[in-house]
Amino acid sequence: MRIILYLGKGGVGKTSISSATAVSIARSGKRVLVISTDVAHSLADALGVELGTKPQEIEKNLFALEVNILAEIREHWEEFHAYFSTMLMQDGTSEIVADELTIMPGMEEMISLRHIWLAANSGNYDVIVVDAAPTGETMRLLAMPESYRWYTDKIASWHVRAMGVAAPLITKFMPKKNIFKLMPEVGEHMKELHGVLMDPEITSFRIVVNPENMVIKEALRAQTYLNLFGYKLDAVVINKVFDQKTKDPFFQCLIDRQQTYLTKINDCFYPLPIFSSKQFSEDMTGTDKLLDMAQAVFGKEDPSQIFYDDKHTHKVEKLNGKYKLHLYLPNIEIERVQMNLKGDELLIEVNNFRKNIILPNVLVGRKTESAKYHGGNLEVTFN
Ligand SMILES: Nc1ncnc2c1ncn2[C@@H]1O[C@H](COP(=O)(O)OP(=O)(O)OP(=O)(O)O)[C@@H](O)[C@H]1O
Ligand SMILES: [Mg+2]
Repeated sequence: MRIILYLGKGGVGKTSISSATAVSIARSGKRVLVISTDVAHSLADALGVELGTKPQEIEKNLFALEVNILAEIREHWEEFHAYFSTMLMQDGTSEIVADELTIMPGMEEMISLRHIWLAANSGNYDVIVVDAAPTGETMRLLAMPESYRWYTDKIASWHVRAMGVAAPLITKFMPKKNIFKLMPEVGEHMKELHGVLMDPEITSFRIVVNPENMVIKEALRAQTYLNLFGYKLDAVVINKVFDQKTKDPFFQCLIDRQQTYLTKINDCFYPLPIFSSKQFSEDMTGTDKLLDMAQAVFGKEDPSQIFYDDKHTHKVEKLNGKYKLHLYLPNIEIERVQMNLKGDELLIEVNNFRKNIILPNVLVGRKTESAKYHGGNLEVTFN
């Protein structure tokens, strides 16, 4: 089984590329589920069908579902819901606000992850394609399996505190059942899913990017954090590339600007494979159009394959109080390396190759001490 997760900034084309990937895989004869973990759903619009919270077969071998977080909380997490709204109403919060607030940080992510886990465990699919929410939320989602223990501890401590202050009231409102008995089970699922998401033989992460400055910056940030969490990227998809010729000076200006950013994307994400899709003039919705899109991106290649199974592109380690950033840049002739730090960005120039890195928070504000290149690795020491 394979899991392919597309992420990137809002509006870059994650839903379109995810659905296109799924359609293409389904038409090649494999059973595929495309699932959206974004609360603002548009998978149904992209596929041109109505979708529910249960997997629905849209055409042969192609299944899709949209998770409805609020409904799900009401249905499966009612005990949590009752518990937390009671606690909030204690503090004077109105019932409606309490209802909204009980979607606690992490709750959406946990529910989305649970759906991925269910699909992965069902044995029903050869491939699961995840259409993720914009980068920030997805990073929280991906950090969740690891921060789960922190999360359950936090809830347990709230529980203890609340029981101390308002035990009589809470016990009156609360069902007799112990709501925390659910936690270890969810914890086990999280651990399993974490293993699956970390396994590069199963899961590949792909960043969708447009040739635009802010979008690239966010994509680089996503790359840094994926690497930090130990998740493996296997490709970058550049979407909405103009391939037209024009005599219009304004449009030509846009095309030229895209060219600059295309070079930047190629340099910055090296050595990852890079695919691209043109900006289509028509609406790319419905399975046939999506198949055209998949062909524009992947050509004759099978989108369910692992496109990159070499080393992680970044790694940060702490040694004797100093931080080392390892960047995997194979097959580069390095005679001279120049580095420039600006805020959370590190600009590296190697010959005529310029690479921007978004530094993880632990490295921001530190000074670079030295850089060494060996065995395809550029090793930058910070103090
Ligand atoms: N290559 C393309 N050519 C033309 N239109 C495109 C292309 N890619 C995406 N679109 C259109 O751009 C819009 C945004 O795409 P999409 O919904 O796939 O992005 P997204 O990254 O999922 O957005 P969000 O972050 O809001 O979920 C949609 O209307 C989609 O049909
Ligand atoms: Mg989307």
